[in-house]
Amino acid sequence: MRHFLSLCDLAPAELDYLIRRARVLKAMRAAGSVYEPLRNRTLGMVFEKSSTRTRVAFEVAMADFGGQAIFLSPHDTQLGRGEPIEDTARVLSRMVDIIMVRTFEHEKIQTFARYSRVPVINGLTDMFHPCQLLADVLTFVEHRGELRGRRVAWVGDGNNMCHSYVNAAMLLGFELRIACPQGYAPAPAVLATAAANVTLCHDPRQAVRDADLVVTDVWASMGQEGESNARMAAFRPFQVDEELFALAGSDALFMHCLPAHRGEEVTVGVMDHARSVVWDEAENRLHAQKALIELLLCGVQ
Ligand code: CP
Ligand code: NVA
Repeated sequence: MRHFLSLCDLAPAELDYLIRRARVLKAMRAAGSVYEPLRNRTLGMVFEKSSTRTRVAFEVAMADFGGQAIFLSPHDTQLGRGEPIEDTARVLSRMVDIIMVRTFEHEKIQTFARYSRVPVINGLTDMFHPCQLLADVLTFVEHRGELRGRRVAWVGDGNNMCHSYVNAAMLLGFELRIACPQGYAPAPAVLATAAANVTLCHDPRQAVRDADLVVTDVWASMGQEGESNARMAAFRPFQVDEELFALAGSDALFMHCLPAHRGEEVTVGVMDHARSVVWDEAENRLHAQKALIELLLCGVQ
């Protein structure tokens, strides 16, 4: 029994396997082949923050596999009325086969996992968003091949997505250049895990120059709505516009985990650019999460 709380819960070879397996599952689905290894199995999904992609990808993944998913929010479960996370984990994990949690503090999902009898998947915390990275890596590999040895520019907030990119740089061996405003750097403890692969600067042009992939994310993440005004001002010079994207390699791709705020962190022109792969990236959440669930419940195929 194992959990997936951050990308670092995978060995590099397992991450490679997951990407290969996601491509196989994607091809099987496109061919219309029925593959139901999880008949009568249930995924419980605890969402303490909103979601479109993560929820739909997990629900469809379980439906494809012949199982089912249950959506649980604090508004209509006892979690919202103060039932402890430890008790919730113990109870849910006696009934369902696997659990996804989207929450705020990373410590909360770690506690949940400690008390769970079944695998726990991180569907986003304030610290990490590892499922999104599976989709991002899959998308890059489909379009451009291996990420190893490539140059990736992260422009914007040193947030949960940025932290998961740091993990990916270490696991996959690519160069990650982060450009963020002063005061919005990634957590030093996360950076320290990948010092050889990651550089930090405050000039987006420096980070993007000759990059193979340019990635950004919202300026205010879920839970930071109260900081929006201060963040808008600090991040304004970090918008990914056509001029900035043009500094990247001539074959560079653009990604964004979505939802995007056009006119803030990214312009309409870059979202709709011929080398923007944001829709493939969103779709790939499904295929990548199917590979993940299968690995956690059925092992390597
Ligand atoms: N990218 C992502 O996780 O999207 P949702 O918040 O819609 O799940
Ligand atoms: N950084 C964003 C990602 C959303 C998918 C957030 O945490 O809100």
